[in-house]
This record gives sequence, C-alpha cells and structure tokens, in this order.
Amino acid sequence: MEKEHKEALRRAEESLEKVKKDVEASEYRQRYHFMTPGYWLNDPNGVIYMDGEYHAFYQHNPYGIFLGPMHWGHAKSKDLVHWEHLPIALAPSEEYELYPEGVYGCYSGSTLYENGVLYAVYTASRGAGEKNVQVQCLARSYDQGTTFVKEPSNPIISRPPECGSRDFRDPKIWEHEGKYYMICGTCSDGFGKVVLYRSDNMTDWEFFNVMAESRGEYGKMWECPDFFELDGRYVLVFSPMGLGYRKTFYMTGDFDYESGRFSMLTEGEVDWGFDYYAPQSFEDGKGRRIMLGWANNWDWMPWFKDYGPTQKDKWCGSFALPREVKICEDNRLSFAPVEELKILRNGHKSYEELEIGQEEPLNIEAGDGISFELDVSVDRSKTTAEQFWFELRAGQGFKTVVLFDLKNGMFKIDRSDADGWSRGVQSCTLEDRGKEEIKAHIFVDRSSVEVFTDRGRTVMSANIFPKDNCSMTRLCAKGGKLRVKRIDAWGLDRA
Ligand code: FRU
Repeated sequence: MEKEHKEALRRAEESLEKVKKDVEASEYRQRYHFMTPGYWLNDPNGVIYMDGEYHAFYQHNPYGIFLGPMHWGHAKSKDLVHWEHLPIALAPSEEYELYPEGVYGCYSGSTLYENGVLYAVYTASRGAGEKNVQVQCLARSYDQGTTFVKEPSNPIISRPPECGSRDFRDPKIWEHEGKYYMICGTCSDGFGKVVLYRSDNMTDWEFFNVMAESRGEYGKMWECPDFFELDGRYVLVFSPMGLGYRKTFYMTGDFDYESGRFSMLTEGEVDWGFDYYAPQSFEDGKGRRIMLGWANNWDWMPWFKDYGPTQKDKWCGSFALPREVKICEDNRLSFAPVEELKILRNGHKSYEELEIGQEEPLNIEAGDGISFELDVSVDRSKTTAEQFWFELRAGQGFKTVVLFDLKNGMFKIDRSDADGWSRGVQSCTLEDRGKEEIKAHIFVDRSSVEVFTDRGRTVMSANIFPKDNCSMTRLCAKGGKLRVKRIDAWGLDRA
C-alpha cells in the first residue's frame, strides 16, 4: 500500500516537472496570488497553522489542465504571502480511490494536528455517473504533511448516511473536549445538508445528526463545509450547488454539542464575485481566523464560460488572497485581506481631498498598473455623483470596471470588456451607500481583481486576463461630483 502510494507520487511529480517552465513563462502568471506550479488546482484542503508555519493543501491534478485524477498538492508559508511548493502529499493509489479514467481520487477534506501528528481526512471517489462511490478516508503524517501514510482500515466511513446520498464528501474534522467531530456535505431529494459524525479515536465514526439542511432555499448539494467558533458564535460555511448566482454561503448562529444541531441567526455571502469557491479556514498563532478560497468557478455556475485562457500555458487555478474573518455585532461576517500583504507594497502614491467631475477622470499611478493595491476613501456627504467607478487594467480598448452606484445602492464588477475573453457583470447591494464614508480596498494581479468594501462585509473576486499592456488605472464619476478623501496606491511585488 505504501509502495503504491510512493510510486503514484513519484509519477505525479515527474509529470508536473515537465510543465513548470511553461507556467513560469505564462503571460498570465500571477505575481502574488498563490497558484499551482503546473496543471490544475481547485479547492484548498486541510489549511492549517502548524509549528509556526502555514500549510495549504489543495485539490490538484498533476497530469492535466482539467479536473482528473485528484491529488493533494502541498505548500507552506511563514507569512501567508510567500509560499514554498512542497512535494505532492496525497495521490490516488488504493482500490477505493482508483478508476481507469476520468475524475476520481483523493477529493477535498481537512486536517487536524495533534501531538506532532498531522491527520488528514479526505473523500475517496471512484466510478462515474450512477456508479460513483464517495467514502471518507484517513491518512497520517509524522513529518508535517511531507509524507502521508493511508490508514489500513480505510475507508473510515464507507457509506453515506440514510438521510444522505451518493454525493457525500469533503469532511471537515475538529476536536472538542476529547472527542472528534466531522461534518460532510451531502443531499437528499435535491436538498443540500451537512451531516455530523462523532468518534473517540478518529478511525471509528458514528453518525450523530444532520447538523444543518436546506429545504430547497439554500441549494441542492452542499460542498466543502467549514465550521468554526468565532467570538462565542458558530459559523457554518458551505458552497451550495444549484443556487443561481450565490455560491459561497455562510451562516452564523448557535451550535449544541448535545444534539449536534446548528441553528442559524444570520446568513450571508462570502464573496459576490465570479471566482471564489470552496473556502476553508483555520485559526493561526495570533488567534486570527484565516480563510483561503479557490479563485475560479465550475461549469454549473450560471456565468461559466470555461476555466480561462491560462490553460494554454499548462496551468489553471489560483487561490484568492488569504482573508481574516471577523464577526460583526449583527452576526454578519467581515473579511479583510491579511495585513502581511503590506510587505509586498512598493512605490507609494497618495491623493488627498480631490473633486472629480464627469468629464475629468483621475489617472491613478498605481505601481506598474498590473499588480497593485488601492485603498480608497470617498466622502459621501460631499459627493453629488450618482455613480463612480474604477477602470482597472485599462488600455488597448480593454478595461475592468468596479462600480459604486450610489443612486441605486448597488456595487458591481463588470468584466465584459476586460480582455476579449472574459464576460459578465456581478452585482449586489452596496450596504454603505448612504453612510458618511465609502471605503474600498482593491487588489489587482496579473489575472485577477479582488475588491473589499462595506467595511469588509461585501467582497467580490473576478478573474480577468488582459495583456500586460493594459495597465492604466482611472477613477471616474457621473451625474455630479465625486469627493475623494484619500487614495493610497502601491505597486505590489512578486511574492
Ligand atoms: C468542490 C468539489 C468538492 C470535491 C472536489 C473535487 O469544488 O467539487 O466537492 O471534493 O471539488 O476536486
């Protein structure tokens, strides 16, 4: 068993090695967003802070630019900004996770670190269509995730619960008062749910309860559940399939360890953009709750076109920026890019107390206009404009628009003219439309844009693929004057 796993890992590394150079040379290569060293990446898995370092595992196909035989890639970081790629951690090698071709293998899961041992739980998937079987498995590592040994008694959960279905995956594990708990996403009759299991030893699991479920209003299948305590409240995050334009959901509420039931107080969207899915979180050494998400989308999402033009350069997939999650007084969540990102800043420019009129856009000097950060504050009380917007990565007839529609109280990202490939507009309510001050924190990289506004309560991520000669940054207004309190702009280094 160990021999087969080692051999599968060796083959995977060999395959990956062949494309690393092409990926480095890719015109779309991200500068500071974590991305695959080659081929396909999707969900973050088992993200964890361990012995002073951050570790991220992730869904990875080291043989091709699409989903395929799924492995767990692995990288670590001291600061959440500079990541070092490590050998692939898990490869499909056992009967319960092998299939002749197509999509199979070691699917998403999570990790737990205890007494120097890193435990990974993951879904093993094999078979296609009606014959697809998803079971939960365990692997242990004694060297912080460099090498894993799969449990001889795998699978540790060999069938879905009565209340579930064949779609039964993405275990999230945690420990509480000497017992282990695990939730998995599943569904029945088109209603998504998360089911809770309990164990004394991590190998024998008993079904405990349905922790939370949809009655149809929250999607038909819940993928990649995440669950944690934050300032005395409990937070359940999941990625619902079939919920139209909503795709990364959170619920805050209460949880009862006696019954295993979660009750919701508030719900919200982790990210309203196009490209953010399957986030997972962990607590770090500073007590922060850090969340990592996959910056792409699936073919069943309404705006899907394909996985993006990076595939021609033999890679596909990056993570969105690591975000610190906080809970607000009204139990909603807020998200902020981690402060460590400041170490990438270069060439500071600031603009203060400006008035921008309809025909007088402001050209902002923000690094080289390709990878940069903008921190913006608008004086709402002195603004008469009905709309203001940023044109990012503009040039050669292309631009990506980040729009604040004050008149209609909306916030939008429009990437229909971004690059000749991307399309679509995402919009949501701008919560701070009537407040004294409107703030926006914008991060742009070679192939993505992320915007944090409404004090971090509204976030939008979008992948875009303009050429490097699209590098102008402008701020425009319409229907009156825009009063800018301050703009800070920086270039951002390659991590
Ligand atoms: C979510 C997901 C998971 C699954 C994994 C396979 O993006 O569909 O449910 O485990 O991707 O790579």
